[in-house]
Amino acid sequence: MNFELTEDQIMIKESAMDFAENEIAPSSVQRDKDAEFPADIVKKMGELGFMGMMVSPEYGGAGLDTISYVLAMIEISKVDASVGVIMSVNNSLVCYGLEKYGSDHIKQKYLIPLAKGEKLGAFALSEPEAGSDATKQKTTADKDHKHYVINGIKNWITNGISADYTLVMATTDKVKAHKGISTFIVEKGTQGFGHGVKEDKLGIRSSDTCSLTFENCRVPSENMVWDEGRGFNFAMNTLNGGRIGIAAQAIGVAEASLDASVKYAKERKAFGQTISNFQAIQFKLSDMAVKIDAAKMLTFKAAALKDAGKPYYKEAAMAKLYASKISVECALEAIQIHGGYGYVREYLVERYLRDSKITEIYEGTSEIQKMVIARALLDQK
Ligand code: CAA
Repeated sequence: MNFELTEDQIMIKESAMDFAENEIAPSSVQRDKDAEFPADIVKKMGELGFMGMMVSPEYGGAGLDTISYVLAMIEISKVDASVGVIMSVNNSLVCYGLEKYGSDHIKQKYLIPLAKGEKLGAFALSEPEAGSDATKQKTTADKDHKHYVINGIKNWITNGISADYTLVMATTDKVKAHKGISTFIVEKGTQGFGHGVKEDKLGIRSSDTCSLTFENCRVPSENMVWDEGRGFNFAMNTLNGGRIGIAAQAIGVAEASLDASVKYAKERKAFGQTISNFQAIQFKLSDMAVKIDAAKMLTFKAAALKDAGKPYYKEAAMAKLYASKISVECALEAIQIHGGYGYVREYLVERYLRDSKITEIYEGTSEIQKMVIARALLDQK
């Protein structure tokens, strides 16, 4: 076991940190207030290789490992978790699946611009009546000669408004239940494809989330990713990697909470001394640090397994479950340390609480992660 990062990994971490501090931080407070999508930032991230980090250079990506991706996700999310989720969806839910399962036509036409960050992707699995219970897809895709005709509604789609290409899971054969679900790429502007209003969210406000509508939306057959009937497997397999990304996002927010707390504790005076002298504060800081390190270990383990080509779905679920939990806990402790100042927008810690909460919900709720972990344990016995 080696806990040292390689020189390349250190370089990626540092360049993500520099980018986050210099390019993302200056506008993050205002974008959170205005719920404004960071289009210019996302474009620059594409130019720097952050939008297709694990895609091979042959398809326009940076050809890096999952550890590097986790490091970059932590640094970006530490400064702005909204930017973190935009990056995570494009990398893990869209590019990963297209490289692994897409045809050559799909890789040339869609993966290359997505990996280069010239285009943005979204992943549409959830529906009004199929959230955690994702096999119950109601959206349909009926074959019509060389096309499929999609009808239905998707919900809670990250990048839903801004995405150029959306991966849509739809039922091609109702009789086969989840084995009759297929995945399609739908281009922005396709007739019959629309979106709802931008959701007015508690946190990650600068990312866009919306519902999507499909009314007789015709998509060429060659836009089907992988084989007919493999759409649910596609979604589950890509979500495993997505969960590593969201664990990293949660860790980024937790680190931001700890950093802000250390800084504040060293500055704030009470009872004639800085509050960092009080054991009550010290214990909170050390608890936060231990939790963050434990979350990192779980996340790096899942990433290392993925890089080694070994099964990692249970470890990814563990990483997401724990990292999202401690992210909320660290944000709450940061507010407590800041007292009244933690409850107002003047300091950033109230945003950390708002941003961390969603990590316990999307890409599989904490309850779903526990189901995945328990099923893996029981199958092994
Ligand atoms: N990895 C790989 N395959 C998996 C899997 C995993 N983690 N979990 C389930 N599967 C596979 C099963 O092996 C099975 O495949 P086969 O039939 O080919 O053998 C298939 O999925 C169905 O599994 P189950 O029979 O166990 O079905 P179930 O209904 O009992 O449970 C579930 C399925 C695990 C609950 C699944 O529905 C699930 O993960 N739900 C959560 C969905 C989710 O994470 N949604 C996130 C939406 S995307 C999002 O948030 C993106 C965003 O915009 C930020």
